[in-house]
Amino acid sequence: MSIWNGTRRRIHLQEVGPRDGLQAECAFVETHDKIALVDALSKSGVAKIEVTAFVSPQAIPALRDAEIVLREIEREPGVVYTALVPNVRGAERAIDARADELNLVMSASESHNLSNLRMTRDQSFGSLKTVAGIARDAGLPVNISLSCAFGCPMEGDVAEDAVLEWARRFIEEAGARGVTLCDTTGMAYPPQVARLTAAFIERWPHTELTLHFHNTRGMGLANVLAAIDAGANRFDASLGGIGGCPYAPGASGNVCSEEIVHALEWMGYDTGVDLYTLIEAAKRLPALIGHDTPSQIVKAGRRLDLHPLPADFDAIRERALQRDVASRPPN
Ligand code: COA
Ligand code: ZN
Repeated sequence: MSIWNGTRRRIHLQEVGPRDGLQAECAFVETHDKIALVDALSKSGVAKIEVTAFVSPQAIPALRDAEIVLREIEREPGVVYTALVPNVRGAERAIDARADELNLVMSASESHNLSNLRMTRDQSFGSLKTVAGIARDAGLPVNISLSCAFGCPMEGDVAEDAVLEWARRFIEEAGARGVTLCDTTGMAYPPQVARLTAAFIERWPHTELTLHFHNTRGMGLANVLAAIDAGANRFDASLGGIGGCPYAPGASGNVCSEEIVHALEWMGYDTGVDLYTLIEAAKRLPALIGHDTPSQIVKAGRRLDLHPLPADFDAIRERALQRDVASRPPN
């Protein structure tokens, strides 16, 4: 249902292109271009922007300018500026650069956690609990992104009970304000999304739940709609549909922000986002990253962005009308 109590139901869009998007690119996007991109996104009406990641510059060279970007963007009141943080070092850097929120990351799959973060899940949890304490002392909220929550490219299915148990530990033992269930390599499918979303909301109705889908197998929008029907109202998406974890085999782009906004607005939801501003920002990407993006909306335009009639349209119509005259029976 898109209409609740006569008002349009609000769906919060969280832009992750500057982090999940740019981390996957070979090209290093110049620092001033990153800042300009985030500034353009700030004006589009998105609820939250994941600006960068405070990770090892050897692991993710594309985001080695995290401090400068987060410090120098122009902050729009009402927008939450978050940053990905894998460890204590990352937390200290993010707090120093004035992040509004720390987005901690851990995988629900042991194999992916070891590949991506070089720790077991238990080691990650221990370290992230310390990070959560540092954030609390600094007065900052914490979100935990659980990667591979809908399947792992190396292990296959990840038990839903295990995903919920990691969520529980972060909410109850580490004081997380929010949890993001990440479909890191596009393995989620709608009935699974509906089940996990409903189970989460039933247990933690007051915890900020985000769904983070990648469109790797073309099921991104279907998964967003399944999650909305199950009660979710907060989604990550990436400008141009770029993105992907370099440490997850077969990863590809996030659901595309402008496609999600376009679809949801036509379905009667209120995303708060100005689609034109978002599309204009997406059009900057190919020049920055050196290739085309998957965005269907940038290619095709919005559904009512019309095309001109064919140049010889008058002649076509004239000929068609002549056919009527020619076929008329003689009186
Ligand atoms: N910020 C900056 N540098 C960091 C850092 C951080 N948050 N964490 C670690 N480093 C540096 C260390 O200083 C060290 O540098 P040195 O070799 O010059 O001394 C190097 O990284 C290795 O540090 P170590 O503590 O041994 O970490 P590690 O090698 O076990 O790596 C991670 C662990 C998680 C820090 C690293 O793999 C990482 O940042 N990965 C990125 C994960 C990611 O962003 N994935 C995609 C998104 S989900
Ligand atoms: Zn992702």
